[in-house]
Amino acid sequence: MLLSRGKKSTVGLDIGANSIKLVKLDHTKSGYSVSAIGIRELPPEAIVADEIRDREAVIFNIQSLIDQTDPKIKDVVVSISGHSVITDRFNIDKKTGAEAEQAILFETEQRAPFDIEDVSLDYHVVKTDDEASKMDVLLVAARREYLRMFLDLIQDCGLRPVVVDDDALAIYNAYTENYEVDPTRLTALVNIGHDVTNITYLQDGLFQATRDVSAGTREIYNAVQKEFRLNPELTAKAIKGELNDSVDEDMLKATIISATDELISGIELAFSYFRSQAKVENIDWIVLSGGGSLIPYLPEFLQSKLNVPLEIANPLRNVDYDPELFQYLQPEKIAPLLTVSVGLAMRKVR
Ligand SMILES: Nc1ncnc2c1ncn2[C@@H]1O[C@H](COP(=O)(O)OP(=O)(O)OP(=O)(O)O)[C@@H](O)[C@H]1O
Ligand SMILES: [Mg+2]
Repeated sequence: MLLSRGKKSTVGLDIGANSIKLVKLDHTKSGYSVSAIGIRELPPEAIVADEIRDREAVIFNIQSLIDQTDPKIKDVVVSISGHSVITDRFNIDKKTGAEAEQAILFETEQRAPFDIEDVSLDYHVVKTDDEASKMDVLLVAARREYLRMFLDLIQDCGLRPVVVDDDALAIYNAYTENYEVDPTRLTALVNIGHDVTNITYLQDGLFQATRDVSAGTREIYNAVQKEFRLNPELTAKAIKGELNDSVDEDMLKATIISATDELISGIELAFSYFRSQAKVENIDWIVLSGGGSLIPYLPEFLQSKLNVPLEIANPLRNVDYDPELFQYLQPEKIAPLLTVSVGLAMRKVR
């Protein structure tokens, strides 16, 4: 049922370990335009590696963010990620209806590290090959208990979760809505968050696979905090380059670089696993997003270590907005941080 409430708009809400991001996009005839943006940092341990440790703090901060940005917001598109969720693409014999469901359940069972009885799943047929009678299926499955806990949290904020997506699909959507995908180039979308780095591979221009690496920028954050003996607020400022007077630039660079070992080896390992699985020689291109792509020196260092050409994603590249409206947030500077929330807000919700 289509409820016409004037302009069609969608709100993407991305709840991360470091910050909560909100983007409201109006879906217009010519594309998208931003009508609200909000970011709110969380206390350091409220969420750790997708685990909500301080539920009250998370709810309080989501509600505050909504109040600050647009108190009328009720419907939100959210995403789940982490160990209780899997996203995968596979090729099976072409089937329809209950037979297809059966086959997809079977494939899920092979992949999910949890009991299939407890799973909520959603799938989408990406491609069918009539000649070979095969089809490519994109699957998202989540542990039901985890999904329920998450939905309860959103509802306890006074919000209505209208779509539950996952980070990888949101990152993929944000990319393909903004860029022409070059099908000859094996591309890795690398979204570096605080605790998790999501890697999504595009092959022949299509979503191929996704993998979470359990490392992000928290190591860098902790190292900067310790080295310069700063409180959380000042640590965040130092990383954003806002403490240039009191923080020595060379020292900051050395501290950041010294805290990247886990992140780099995690990405290297994921790349080599993908190369052997997909039987490809090289990853041709990295598209970097997430807060990690804004940390000074990190993108250049990653590029030199991984030896793959790299570009920083701008999820607002094809999106209209009035810079005057969001002056202090400077969307053109922080856009990569909004990749997941923009991808979520690009969802068409009826
Ligand atoms: N403007 C900025 N300049 C530099 N670094 C920034 C900026 N904004 C955020 N960051 C850094 O980005 C990191 C967080 O990235 P991001 O917001 O993508 O993670 P998250 O979504 O909260 O975490 P996760 O996805 O792992 O749950 C933090 O370490 C933070 O210091
Ligand atoms: Mg994130």
